[in-house]
This record gives sequence, structure tokens and C-alpha cells, in this order.
Amino acid sequence: MPVVAIVGATGKTGRWALKGAIERELEVRVLARSPDKLAPLLADLGGQSEDLDLEKITVVEGSVTDADKLETLMDGADVVMSFLGMTNPPEWVVSPGVEAVMGALLSLRKAGKTPPRFLSMSSIVLGDSAEQGRRAWGCFVAWLVPKVALKACFEDMQAAEDYILANRKAMGLSVTILRATVLKTSSFVKDYTDPVKTYKLVPVSDTAAKLSFFVEMQSVCEAFLDVATTGEYEDAEVSVFAA
Ligand SMILES: NC(=O)c1ccc[n+]([C@@H]2O[C@H](COP(=O)([O-])OP(=O)(O)OC[C@H]3O[C@@H](n4cnc5c(N)ncnc54)[C@H](OP(=O)(O)O)[C@@H]3O)[C@@H](O)[C@H]2O)c1
Repeated sequence: MPVVAIVGATGKTGRWALKGAIERELEVRVLARSPDKLAPLLADLGGQSEDLDLEKITVVEGSVTDADKLETLMDGADVVMSFLGMTNPPEWVVSPGVEAVMGALLSLRKAGKTPPRFLSMSSIVLGDSAEQGRRAWGCFVAWLVPKVALKACFEDMQAAEDYILANRKAMGLSVTILRATVLKTSSFVKDYTDPVKTYKLVPVSDTAAKLSFFVEMQSVCEAFLDVATTGEYEDAEVSVFAA
């Protein structure tokens, strides 16, 4: 059974990765600054499901800035996923968090262990996906959102991408960036054991694909879980759109 570690599982997006990983019967570990958030969150996500049980997951209490907690979380895991987001704007969290995760992964390697793959959440429009962003959002929105409306948030995510691209090879780590288009929520609740895919993965080189403006948060987490278990897009960047 693959072991999945999740950072940011209490967030609006990451909680669906937690739900999906449990439903797919993966062994789940979570880093949480406030573990008391998890029981009500699981109850909320599960509806009538009794499977979403806190007893089924391992909780490591701590911040992404706690190197020893990160190592505990990731030691022996097959994959670590990060859904970190800015909770105290404009204070950066994604870039420092990504650096901390990669630092802890390197420490595991130096200790003779096999570090897990790292899947990090980002946004289209960043890095070499600028043109993809313009195609999906239109030129005005693709300029306005990162440069004005959510400037600090996008600068933080861009710095995280830059760090990954500059260091993953030299550090000998396997890091994949998954860039989501605009996130949305709906009343639909996904069954993560359903084989029908609700997302589409589009590399920037695919200039023919139809790109959605929105993608469901639950679909983004479906993509993360699939990439985690299939091993696709190793050391690559890929964008997540609605199917
Ligand atoms: N909105 C969009 O359309 C869009 C599109 C693409 C990408 N994104 C990006 O996707 C990411 C996730 O978004 P979201 O809305 O799901 O975020 P969110 O709801 O704000 O969740 C952020 C998560 O990060 C955790 N966190 C923050 N600081 C932490 C720390 N120091 N240590 C450990 N955990 C920490 C939070 O934990 P606590 O519960 O302890 O606060 C929470 O679980 C963001 O980076 C966002 O910019 C958004």
C-alpha cells in the first residue's frame, strides 16, 4: 500500500486529497499545525461515510517550517504532496514551505534513506505556462490576477517554482509541479474510487488541448493522487484542467 504524506491537508484543496487517499485505501500521513481541525473536517467531507476515520491516518503535529517534523512525516513515505497556501497574506508560505520540504528530503537522502517523490501545487500562468494561462483565462485576466489581484500569492508560487527548477536535479530529488487553473467548489462530492476522470493533464507543449477556465478542487486532488500512483510526469511540470 503506497504511503502518502500530505502538507496543507486542512486547506480548501488539500482536504480533498486527504479524502481521496483514504478512499483509495492508501496509507495516509498528514502534517497539521492544528490537528484538532482534522476530525470535524473529515466528518464534513465524509457525509454519511464511516470510512473517513481519523484513526486511519497518522497525524504529525507541526508547521512546514519544523524540519524535524517534516522528516518524521516523510521518512518511509512514497510520495509527499503539498497544497500549502497563504493563510496570512501577504506573508509567503509556498516558497518557504517548498524549500523546507526539499531540505528535509535531502536530509533523508543524506541519511541513506530513499526520499519520497514530491508533488507541489502551483498555478497556470506561472513559469513557462504563461501562454497557456492566456489561452485559458484570456489576456486581461492572465495579466490582472498575477500582477495585481493576487500579486503576493503569485510571487510566492513563482519563487517556489523557481526554487524547484533550480535545485531538484542538483539535490537528486524527484519533484513534479502541478499547476491548476482557477479553482472552484461545487456541491458535487467526488467518489475517488470511481475510475472516470474529472480532470485533464496538459503539458505546456500541447497547444491544441481545450483548456477550461475553472477546475474543481476535488478534480485537482484526483490528478495529484493519480500522478502519485502512476509515477507520470516525474521531474516535470504539468497543468490541471477540467476534463
Ligand atoms: N484559487 C485558485 O484558483 C488557485 C489556483 C491554482 C493554485 N492555487 C494555489 O493552491 C494552493 C492551495 O490553495 P487553497 O485555497 O487550498 O489554500 P488554503 O485553503 O489557504 O490552505 C492552505 C493550507 O496550507 C496550510 N499551511 C499554511 N501555512 C502553513 C505552515 N506554516 N505549516 C503547515 N501548513 C501550513 C494551511 O494549514 P492551517 O489549516 O494550519 O492554516 C492549509 O492547510 C495555494 O497556494 C493557492 O495559491 C490556487
